[in-house]
Amino acid sequence: MNHDADAGTVDVAVAGGGLVGLGIAWRCAQRGLSVAVVDDAPGTGASHAAGGMLAPTAEVGYGEEQLLELCRASLARFPAFVAELEGESGIDVGLRTAGTCVVGFDADDMVALDVLHAFQRELGLGAERLTAREVRRREPALTPRLRGALHIAGDHSVDARALHAALRAAAEVAGVLMVPSNAAALWVRNGHAVGLELARGARMAAHTVVLALGARSAALPGVPPLPVRPVKGQILRLRGASGLLEGTVRALVRGRQVYLVPCAGDQLIVGATVEEKGFDETVTAGGVYELLRDAIEVVPGVSELELVEALARPRPGTPDNAPILGASAMPGLVLACGHYRNGVLLTPVTAEAVAELVVTGALPEFAMPFTPDRFGR
Ligand code: GLY
Repeated sequence: MNHDADAGTVDVAVAGGGLVGLGIAWRCAQRGLSVAVVDDAPGTGASHAAGGMLAPTAEVGYGEEQLLELCRASLARFPAFVAELEGESGIDVGLRTAGTCVVGFDADDMVALDVLHAFQRELGLGAERLTAREVRRREPALTPRLRGALHIAGDHSVDARALHAALRAAAEVAGVLMVPSNAAALWVRNGHAVGLELARGARMAAHTVVLALGARSAALPGVPPLPVRPVKGQILRLRGASGLLEGTVRALVRGRQVYLVPCAGDQLIVGATVEEKGFDETVTAGGVYELLRDAIEVVPGVSELELVEALARPRPGTPDNAPILGASAMPGLVLACGHYRNGVLLTPVTAEAVAELVVTGALPEFAMPFTPDRFGR
């Protein structure tokens, strides 16, 4: 270990103070390690935009059964994770357990819902088929024009921004040092990651560097090639939605997808576009129009709400939509990136797996399918 680090030396330097980075930092500090999180604007990336859905059953995709298992493992940890976090931080993270309704409009949407339901049942997932009348009894704000629905009692949501604030507070209580600087590069010596180079030429030495920079993970100079790419998502926040929806609504509106997530008292989140546009954070008229058009079609009362925010952030996409967890081929560098559409949901399980790896040198069995070497296999 080199000791000419003017920004100090820690056991673990985490590059990135989003949900994933803070979760890992918190768990590592709880296990007695000295930890620094390097980020000049923690929680302003994808964590800031996230809808906060904890919905592995509603979002299950063909060929993603291993990812589903990881998502379900993380969902199972959420209640205890939230209880511990709220206790440590004193911050309510807005866990909602009213479930998720998936609704459809035309005959093709209903075929898609039936196919999804059959796949869910094949995988042993809990989802109930509802008529339009039944789903409107559950969520009276839904339009009478929809054709039918699924209800998934186990798919929940959390206020991602409150979760971030709570993780930051709990991490600091546990002794994590927040370093208000961007990681400029991985500090590499003789092929080993030995810390982070910070802005203005400072360096922080670390026994282990954890890469948790979301969509920007592959762009950090010094990091070996990594199949993480930005996938743009535009998302909206509206106010005045108190009592409008009980739980999350996901909709197929004549083949187009939109979701509505009640959040933070009277807010409603409407998301999200999925665009291969690189690191473009432009909010477009077309993006906002399509989200609002579809949301109003699903819940007409949305047209009365105040539009308070429209933003775009890059999700960290990977070739198989699953995260990259575990030791990199470069000694000293651990990867915790590529969470794509599941960063909020996968925070507990990622934090647990990476802390275990850093402390014991062994990644837990449940994380083994997500190691970076899978792309070379
Ligand atoms: N998980 C929601 C999204 O990526 O839009």
